[in-house]
Amino acid sequence: MNYLSDIKEILYSPRDIDERIQGLAKQIQTDYNGEDVVIISILKGSFIFTSDLIRYINLRLTIDFIHVSSYREGMTSKELIINKGLSSNINNKHVLLIDDIIDTGNTLKQVKEILTKENPLSIKTCVLYNKPSGRKVEMVADYVAYDVGNYFIVGYGLDYNEKYRNLPFVGILREEAITKI
Ligand code: PRP
Repeated sequence: MNYLSDIKEILYSPRDIDERIQGLAKQIQTDYNGEDVVIISILKGSFIFTSDLIRYINLRLTIDFIHVSSYREGMTSKELIINKGLSSNINNKHVLLIDDIIDTGNTLKQVKEILTKENPLSIKTCVLYNKPSGRKVEMVADYVAYDVGNYFIVGYGLDYNEKYRNLPFVGILREEAITKI
């Protein structure tokens, strides 16, 4: 199967993303002003964004991962399932929580609430994409690379049915490529 033929339009090229991430990294580095930071990456979507971002941040970082899934069916708010919790202690540490996209806001809000119970010194959030049109709960990310419209985007970590994460750019998926489940 040829992945590229499933893409209607490229929104952000690898070069666009790289330049934006460098700017974001600079802002994060300035804000933390030499403090140690624990980066927590929400799997799976943020693994590529996280790995690129942290290589531009000149701070003493440690990294941990949390893997969550959520059920979207029905009208009730999504229930978050933690598939893999943290492997480090974040008590009294500055935490920067990273996700690829904030859509309804449920994932980031709930993960932030869960981690806040571990008594970090501070907790901030960083996303590559903010989709304001999708918001169902009040949640604002502290660092946002891009605001995106109401498109179904894939690539650079974002999937459709677990596919397309490895595309080096971010694009809009063609309607024909979206199979109804
Ligand atoms: C996606 C994405 C975010 C979340 C955002 O994760 O990676 O974590 O949805 O949506 P929300 O704001 O509506 O909660 P998904 O559950 O699809 O898992 P994935 O990271 O493995 O792709």
